[in-house]
Amino acid sequence: MPRRIHILPDALADQIAAGEVVERPASVVKELVENALDAGAEQVRVDVEQGGKTLIEVSDDGHGMGREDAILALDRHATSKIRSAGDLVGIRSFGFRGEALPAIASVSRLTLSTAETDGEGTEVQVSGGRVDRVAEVARRRGTTVTVRALFFNTPARRKFLRSVASETRAAHEVLATLALANPAIGFELYVDGLRRLFVPPRQTEEERLAAVWGRDLAGTLLPAQHGAGGFRVDGFIQRPGDARPTGRRTQLFVNGRPFKDNFLVRAAEAGYRAAIHPGDRPSLYLRLWTDPGEVDVNVHPAKLEVRFRDRVGAERVVEEAVRLALGTLEAAAMMGEWRGLPAEGVPPSAASASSPAPSPALSPTAYAAAAPSFFDAAPAPAGAAQPSETAAAPPADAPALGPLFQLFDTYICYEAPEGMVIVDQHSAHERVLYEAVMAQLRDGGAPAQRLLIAETVELTDEELESVERHGDELRHVGFEVEGFGGRTVLLQAVPAPHPRFDALACFREMVADLARGRFGGWHNRLERFAATYACRAAVKAGQTLDPREMRELLLRLFATELPPHDVHGRSTIVRLPREELERRFGRR
Ligand SMILES: Nc1ncnc2c1ncn2[C@@H]1O[C@H](COP(=O)(O)OP(=O)(O)O)[C@@H](O)[C@H]1O
Ligand SMILES: [Mg+2]
Repeated sequence: MPRRIHILPDALADQIAAGEVVERPASVVKELVENALDAGAEQVRVDVEQGGKTLIEVSDDGHGMGREDAILALDRHATSKIRSAGDLVGIRSFGFRGEALPAIASVSRLTLSTAETDGEGTEVQVSGGRVDRVAEVARRRGTTVTVRALFFNTPARRKFLRSVASETRAAHEVLATLALANPAIGFELYVDGLRRLFVPPRQTEEERLAAVWGRDLAGTLLPAQHGAGGFRVDGFIQRPGDARPTGRRTQLFVNGRPFKDNFLVRAAEAGYRAAIHPGDRPSLYLRLWTDPGEVDVNVHPAKLEVRFRDRVGAERVVEEAVRLALGTLEAAAMMGEWRGLPAEGVPPSAASASSPAPSPALSPTAYAAAAPSFFDAAPAPAGAAQPSETAAAPPADAPALGPLFQLFDTYICYEAPEGMVIVDQHSAHERVLYEAVMAQLRDGGAPAQRLLIAETVELTDEELESVERHGDELRHVGFEVEGFGGRTVLLQAVPAPHPRFDALACFREMVADLARGRFGGWHNRLERFAATYACRAAVKAGQTLDPREMRELLLRLFATELPPHDVHGRSTIVRLPREELERRFGRR
């Protein structure tokens, strides 16, 4: 009987291993650069040609290898990094399987050139896993691995390679991630001979982020920090107003190690809820720290994914970190050139110490449900009965506000210790109304004011249908509607957020929007409804406010969860820092 089970020849085993480790040129770049980092390199240079299909070369100035080690390194399961199964726990070194080099060598023409000291080195040439030549070479300390003709002997895999542009992009992304994770190491990437990435060694994490993502993007980031349930998060998140639907960057780390996790990205996005335009995707740079026993990093062959023991906790801490960061005055837009990360050379701690601490009222406080009126002392709207509830008093920890003045009947300005603060009255009111409505929805109470004389409203067929369909939501924001017969409805009660509120016009606009299907497609229709209502009901630009009204509006804004952002991801607050004025007037 013929044998069924047999031992795979080593070369074939290597090729199978290559299937796991070497998916595409970018994975070769990753493995080789990680080896360079493990070898204590300070400077790593990567060259790719034709997206890595014809050439991938990684050079480092690490400790190199002697002749025997150089040959052994190309052997399956040769590794200097682990000796026992116990070494598998923890994430101290990048590689540990001792199969990357032989796997790559089995599906390419590979040259390994290495030296432990300047001068005497070794060169090993391998073709499809077979060692062709071992020679002495003169070279500097360090290692250069050159991979040519990737997958030349596995045409099926070669066929799966994507376009040169997309393989190049993937390789670039891999190196960018490694560069972010290792700010002390210098990196260079050359694509077809042109330098595409250059970051010097010995950078701080902030400098590295600005260097890799670019200062423009880095300038739109604000710091985030939070700890809860065995996790700590720090990093940077994008200001909602600067996020765009495309071109975002995300980078996650756990205990300093980069990984990918769409659920955590989504958790972060959940933190932006009602502070960002629904289509916009913020850039995120978040580092999670937790006990090493809480996270398993070895679930993915290329170690891109991790498994958390407490996934819910990880997601919660990320969402909360985003939420907290967005609620600070630091999250408000700032005039000036370098807005986000601290200036070069300034360690983050020193930078945050020099910027004024956010006033307590700007840190998110538990939202005390307030009636949607900020014009407490103002007379009740004509035709409406007295408010059913009285407004809650503004919080005791509200910021001290000096004199207020209105600019263009649109912006409210005041002096703060750190500079001038400018508030858009419409956006601010929108945020106030939105949170008030959402709080009422949660509490089940409606802010409706019964009308003494019901208003009759004539609708189109489509509008009538949407009023019937969305009666509940309309009631939630304060519209009580009754059928009257035909296409006429009776408005029995309306919301009354402020005396200038035109309830009828708001009702018509919302119903028209509903009929046109403008509410579809958003993850939470109620939030969307509350946002639309808030937009319609908020004071408009161009309306004169008296000082008492301005003060009332600001106090209510600062009592919200996210004062600096309206519900569309635009700013409610813009800061003109004193330093910016001093810079412009040459006082510094
Ligand atoms: N750039 C390098 N500099 C010095 N030594 C290296 C380098 N690349 C690989 N090596 C040596 O070759 C061994 C095998 O590498 P590899 O196949 O990637 O396995 P692993 O990194 O998992 O140990 C490493 O353990 C290391 O000793
Ligand atoms: Mg390795």
